[in-house]
Amino acid sequence: MASLTIASRALARGVSRSTACLNAARTLSTSAQLHDAAGSYSSPFKGESKSTKIPDFSHYLNKGTSNTNLLFSYFMVGTMGAITAAGAKSTVQGVYSTQHIAIAHVAPRRPKHQIADQFLKNMSASADVLAMAKVEVDLNAIPEGKNVIIKWRGKPVFIRHRTADEIDEANKVNVASLRDPQADEDRVQKPEWLVMLGVCTHLGCVPIGEAGDFGGWFCPCHGSHYDISGRIRKGPAPLNLEIPTYDFPEEDKLVIG
Ligand code: FES
Repeated sequence: MASLTIASRALARGVSRSTACLNAARTLSTSAQLHDAAGSYSSPFKGESKSTKIPDFSHYLNKGTSNTNLLFSYFMVGTMGAITAAGAKSTVQGVYSTQHIAIAHVAPRRPKHQIADQFLKNMSASADVLAMAKVEVDLNAIPEGKNVIIKWRGKPVFIRHRTADEIDEANKVNVASLRDPQADEDRVQKPEWLVMLGVCTHLGCVPIGEAGDFGGWFCPCHGSHYDISGRIRKGPAPLNLEIPTYDFPEEDKLVIG
């Protein structure tokens, strides 16, 4: 009898526990339904798991700022356009008025295309920037029979003050036998001054002066030999050393560029 009482109590405890769990689950379910019904969160995928219909995300959009962003964009585009137009107009007017004042009493107005040319020139590099593209060298500092290397626009330039013997040697070469046929006189403005870029025409190494089989320059990278006029004589380089633009504005002045 006692054991029957214990068993009935245990059964009653188990039933009451399962009832409590069920009630708790019901409570959670109800609260979730209430929460959902309140509309604080509604999944756009709800009920769409097996459909190709695109869920509606419109309720995620921030409805308060879209017009504000558009207005800001329009304002910025308009402002930048107005500033650019005003700058261009004032520049053209400045050039035009300068032209007009300068020529008003001496000649008829210039055609518009000339004004446009002047405008484009006005937009190009200024005189001081162009001046930096030139290098002036005092030739008195280079003794006869010596090489000098200077840097011009990031490249080395070889300047050789050649002796009379070197000039003779350069002129004795049979031009037709050269890989890149060029007479010495076509490579110099003054025979005693040889000016050329110090960049090997093979792959761009800097050749060594007073070296090689022809008494000129030797490129150690792959073994190109240049003569005393900078012409390729042996090795893989295809062309003579390049001659840059230069001038002698005075007797002892050299300007490269
Ligand atoms: S770079 Fe001068 S020989 Fe190749």
